[in-house]
Amino acid sequence: MAIKILGTGSYVPEKIVTNDDLTKLVDTSDEWIVQRVGVKERHISVNETAADFAIYAAKEALESAGISAEEVDLIIAASVSADSVSPTVAGSVQAAIGASCPAFDINSACSGFLFALDTAVSYIMRGGIRNAIVIGAERMSKIIDWTDRSTCVIFGDGAGAAVVTPGDGYLASKLFTSGSNEVIEIPSYGGDSPFFEGEKKKPYAFMDGQETFKFAVSKMTDDVKLVTEEAGLRLEDIDHVVPHQANIRIIDFASKRLKIPKEKFVVNIERYGNTSAASVAIALDELNKSGRVKRGDIVAMSAFGGGLSSAACIIKW
Ligand code: ACO
Repeated sequence: MAIKILGTGSYVPEKIVTNDDLTKLVDTSDEWIVQRVGVKERHISVNETAADFAIYAAKEALESAGISAEEVDLIIAASVSADSVSPTVAGSVQAAIGASCPAFDINSACSGFLFALDTAVSYIMRGGIRNAIVIGAERMSKIIDWTDRSTCVIFGDGAGAAVVTPGDGYLASKLFTSGSNEVIEIPSYGGDSPFFEGEKKKPYAFMDGQETFKFAVSKMTDDVKLVTEEAGLRLEDIDHVVPHQANIRIIDFASKRLKIPKEKFVVNIERYGNTSAASVAIALDELNKSGRVKRGDIVAMSAFGGGLSSAACIIKW
């Protein structure tokens, strides 16, 4: 049904911030972060925006797909940390690569890349689209409270992109939203209106870590089971799992509960941390570049995050 992935790309900013670097900002330790989260270092932007990362990732994806910007008919980007609402991240990519197609952003926090992919699939199924670029791009360092040790050790910056084209490789998908601010909340800038009397919250990511953890493990397990069943496959048929890189313990739990060996999971959290909507996209690019994925392989992708939201899909490579 609908699509196949033609090429992928990714980009992370050059500056690496280690766990030891963070001990100079907050009361934490390399040991705690490695054991409780699984992150050793993350890439943090010095002067580039989420749109800049997206441009690099999209250019690489186009090169990997072997197509030109004129052959792109749609660009969709997912981000919660863009530096401008307009132009959108996707619009900035469109201008930078010299495409002339519609381009727009969507937001579903860490699940955003899979929501964007599913949206691109719907457009492709409608017909008339040769190639679409789907992007997840985040400068999470912009929306982190760097004095809060429970969040600042987790996140990182970066972008991933995939070029998708009509094919028969999107076997099943599921999107989930439970709109509420109780577990995760990322308020945006409250503005300076002299008339507004409502609460202006700090524009940082807040989350109840343990509740998010429970939600993540159950959604990753249930969603992957559901889409596998819907695709008419068994869990043993899955060759690769591309999970959201939020916490290595979440991935470990999901691997055990699904009885899918850990070796089948793409894991890069130790190098990048949680890059939100970019996370699955970067991991997908790493899987592609590793040469481990072959045409016909079954790939499960799964993400969860703010919203609350979750998404999963099964693709045949
Ligand atoms: N260094 C040292 N100690 C810390 C740190 C730190 N960086 N952070 C918290 N602690 C302390 C706490 O203060 C607490 O101390 P106390 O017992 O004295 O009160 C102790 O460690 C345990 O705190 P918990 O919050 O229970 O730690 P937990 O093991 O649950 O780990 C974490 C916290 C890493 C946030 C975990 O719950 C998690 O990964 N949750 C899921 C996060 C996630 O998936 N987010 C994705 C969505 S985000 C989005 O969409 C924007």
